[in-house]
Amino acid sequence: MSGFNDDMCPALSEQWSRRMNSSQPETMHAPFSQDPPVRKDAQEDASPPALSIIIPTFNEVDNIRPLVGRLHETLVGIEWEVIFVDDDSADHTIDIIRRMSLQDRRVRGIRHVNRRGLAGACLEGILSSSAPIVAVMDADLQHDETCLPKMFRMISTTSADLVVATRYGEPPQHVDGFTRLRQPGSILATGIAQRLLPTPTSDPMSGFFMVKRGIVEAAAPRLSLHGFKILLDILTSSPSPPTIAEVNYDFRPRLHGESKLDAMIVMEYLGLIVAKLTGDLITPRFLMFCIVGSIGLAVHLAVLRLLLLDDLSFPVAQTFAMMSAVLSNYTLNNALTYRDRRRRGWRYLTGLAVFSLLCSFGVFAGVGLSTLIYDQEPYWWLDGIGGAVIGAVWNYVTSSAITWRAR
Ligand code: GDD
Ligand code: MN
Repeated sequence: MSGFNDDMCPALSEQWSRRMNSSQPETMHAPFSQDPPVRKDAQEDASPPALSIIIPTFNEVDNIRPLVGRLHETLVGIEWEVIFVDDDSADHTIDIIRRMSLQDRRVRGIRHVNRRGLAGACLEGILSSSAPIVAVMDADLQHDETCLPKMFRMISTTSADLVVATRYGEPPQHVDGFTRLRQPGSILATGIAQRLLPTPTSDPMSGFFMVKRGIVEAAAPRLSLHGFKILLDILTSSPSPPTIAEVNYDFRPRLHGESKLDAMIVMEYLGLIVAKLTGDLITPRFLMFCIVGSIGLAVHLAVLRLLLLDDLSFPVAQTFAMMSAVLSNYTLNNALTYRDRRRRGWRYLTGLAVFSLLCSFGVFAGVGLSTLIYDQEPYWWLDGIGGAVIGAVWNYVTSSAITWRAR
């Protein structure tokens, strides 16, 4: 790690925490104009950008203007552009971005349709850029943009390939933006992530970093598009470990809107760790599919037990139990495993029919193949597990390719 870890990202952070903590949020914008100052020469300026700032957005409509205004104020003397990658937000964040980019060529927007996910959006933004250096940061102003010039200097003038803006540097910083529950969770997840890393960083979960674009280009084919942890993924997927430097900053409270980090994101994060530990053999989606399948098994057994208590004959009870398990698996997979390709309305019902049909083939495939193996190797538990694995893989492959195929 290079020795830039010395001081905090400068000047504005203190004024900021004061402003952020003030009881009148309206005054927060006061020193920044609502519309970003469009420099007169911005329109004629044909120099290529040296720095692209990639900002994933999902329902951030009120944060875009203040953020671009601050970038203009901070990045004086650097040729920069900002690329927003919006997952088709219901609040029409993309409209504001489009309107701004018509006045300011530094602003670009990608509308990302039929997909959801921070990491995938960031990757798409980075790959759409040609600048040699790219930064990733949040739209909600929790990341201190005044760090950017320093990060840019570090990456341009030292051997660092990647600069992480860290919340956990020395001396410890305030993390005002965290809820009380999140801070220990974040520290735990950071600890797990650090064990995976070839090169150390104090904040592998940071959503705020700057990197030479070539590093991401090299890692791109191996990156997972799910979840939040793009930095961790770049670090663990790079063919050779990048040289890392760090700057400290205070994680600020959100300006407008709310956080999208939910239990599902945490699951995806754990999934990414499993994927990395298994050399990408077990993907986060497959892991979720298996978890849903295990819940389905519990539903099956519970319904079977209840119906048998009710004096139904075994075949009838078993049929209802299987139907409940299929319904539970389908609904949960639709809501969680394939939430980026979720089927709604009529497509929900047709999908259920397709899923049930394909799963019944899965049962035949599992029973057939494991019986064949049993004839050769009669270990009931081994062949039982083998049958379940074959069924699960069949169901997973057909679900991904047919029921929830990417459109
Ligand atoms: N395109 C897109 N798609 N953007 C998204 C999505 C998505 O599915 N989900 C979130 N975003 C955007 C938000 O609009 C915001 O600009 C940024 O990604 C971060 O989302 P937040 O919802 O504000 O995340 P957070 O503040 O709770 O989490 C922060 O801390 C994490 C570590 O604890 C972020 O900095 C994370 O990047 C970081 O990993
Ligand atoms: Mn945030």
